[in-house]
Amino acid sequence: MTPPRRVAVIGAGAAGLAAAKALLDAGVEVAVHERSGRPGGLWARDDPGGPSPAYASLHLNTSKGRTEFADFPMPRDWPDYPSADRVAGYLADYAEKFALTPFLRLRSTVTSVEREEGGGWTVTADPGGAERYDAVVVANGHNWDPRLPEPAYPGAFAGEQLHAHAYRDAEAFRDRRVLVVGMGNSAMDIAVDASYVARGPVLLSARQGVHIVPKYLFGRPSDATGGALSVLPWRLRQRLAQAMLRLAVGAPQDYGLPAPRGGLFQNHPTISDTILHRLTHGEVVVRPGVERLDGDRVVFTDGSSDPVDVIVWATGYRVSIPFLSARWLGADPEALPLYKRVFHLEDPSLVFVGLMQSTGAALPVVEAQAKLAAAYLSGSYALPEPPEQRRAVARALRYATGRWGRDRRPHMRIDFDAYVADVPKEIRAGRDRFLRGQGRPFTPTRRKETSP
Ligand SMILES: Cc1cc2nc3c(=O)[nH]c(=O)nc-3n(C[C@H](O)[C@H](O)[C@H](O)COP(=O)(O)OP(=O)(O)OC[C@H]3O[C@@H](n4cnc5c(N)ncnc54)[C@H](O)[C@@H]3O)c2cc1C
Ligand SMILES: NC(=O)c1ccc[n+]([C@@H]2O[C@H](COP(=O)([O-])OP(=O)(O)OC[C@H]3O[C@@H](n4cnc5c(N)ncnc54)[C@H](OP(=O)(O)O)[C@@H]3O)[C@@H](O)[C@H]2O)c1
Repeated sequence: MTPPRRVAVIGAGAAGLAAAKALLDAGVEVAVHERSGRPGGLWARDDPGGPSPAYASLHLNTSKGRTEFADFPMPRDWPDYPSADRVAGYLADYAEKFALTPFLRLRSTVTSVEREEGGGWTVTADPGGAERYDAVVVANGHNWDPRLPEPAYPGAFAGEQLHAHAYRDAEAFRDRRVLVVGMGNSAMDIAVDASYVARGPVLLSARQGVHIVPKYLFGRPSDATGGALSVLPWRLRQRLAQAMLRLAVGAPQDYGLPAPRGGLFQNHPTISDTILHRLTHGEVVVRPGVERLDGDRVVFTDGSSDPVDVIVWATGYRVSIPFLSARWLGADPEALPLYKRVFHLEDPSLVFVGLMQSTGAALPVVEAQAKLAAAYLSGSYALPEPPEQRRAVARALRYATGRWGRDRRPHMRIDFDAYVADVPKEIRAGRDRFLRGQGRPFTPTRRKETSP
């Protein structure tokens, strides 16, 4: 009898938990390494000094109906946009409900993943040491390694600087003059929080504009229409949604913000009701991009300058996978080509769940990826031949480059509705290939047992 396949899952956030569930459902043995003390990933925010960027005021910005796992609905009596703590509780409940907890190795940080000659992987964790697995699922998240402006803006700043990752609650800003740099969701939340306690209006620096979508449009969660419209080509969806947005809230320029770069759905969505409200009250005021730092002042690209006590760099996160070498990641992990955003092209027993940038929520995407990974790793799905995989990756990249642009992580981009609808079809196609004896099923090289 062949021994069960053993898979290491790295990370017990939404992606790692979904992967563990799908693998166990498919009869695969798993060990889930999680560097923090509890499951839930970035939503489990009370690990001081830990990797979570979540702050006290954080809530979902994708509605619960579009965010929940298909296999585990969120409670009906929850609000449409629950708090981070509720989401953390939901993920902990998911781990309990599907009996994943016994497979979690908490406070176990994976430090290296190396392929063995002939196949299989050695995963080294601290504590824990080295163990051999047939396959590895990388689910380590990509919102924990702060990206600061590079190169840094010229000049020296006399005040305090922090990245959004370090922000916890607005007390840090009480009676201080605050500048928030960036136009993403972190920047919006932090600027709004600060605007209630800061000295004077909060300055919000935008080097370029974005579309700002409120959480509710016409009395419903603004992402609720996405599913119904998803059958339309994205250009048409874009025109319709942009028209609805203009009708409901006007243009960003009406609030003193720069005109957006590109159309709606061609950028990561910035979702906030409250920023518009604080802008109209003058409690947040807009500045252009930063030109340089000058002692206790910040100089902007229009030549104006303001005195500032604290700069918050809400400038996003780098993709970091420190336990894998460039042999597997190439020069830039943001540009890692993956078949269906899941399978490494050189060795598909190296699987990624969550290494994507979705136009919508993350959870249904990682749940779909987890099921695809489990179908392959359990041996009931065959990948297409490598040249077809490469052609599919090239097609996806062409589409993403055309839609989002070359400098916007095109490899990682997926259209939420199209992707979530496509993965079950891909699983069926891979099962058909398998049954017809075509394509490439996963056949682990059987190991000599090694002790940890
Ligand atoms: C502030 C913020 C708000 C967000 N809001 C939303 C939202 O409203 N809706 C939405 O759908 N998405 C949102 N997202 C996206 C978010 O990334 C996903 O919701 C989800 O957390 C992704 O899950 P994940 O498991 O891929 O990553 P994470 O949640 O980051 O989990 C990764 C896990 O891997 C662990 N890990 C990392 N490295 C190692 C290692 N070497 N060894 C062991 N364990 C390791 C980490 O400790 C962590 O627990 C938000 C992101 C941020 C930053
Ligand atoms: N649930 C929620 O409410 C919530 C809250 C926070 C975050 N999130 C999620 O968390 C993830 C990360 O969001 P984020 O806002 O932290 O990062 P982000 O989406 O990557 O946004 C970073 C912002 O910083 C700007 N920026 C980057 N480098 C800059 C530089 N050198 N100088 C000036 N501006 C610069 C970018 O502008 P350019 O466009 O000019 O590059 C962009 O506006 C996203 O998935 C987001 O949806 C969700």
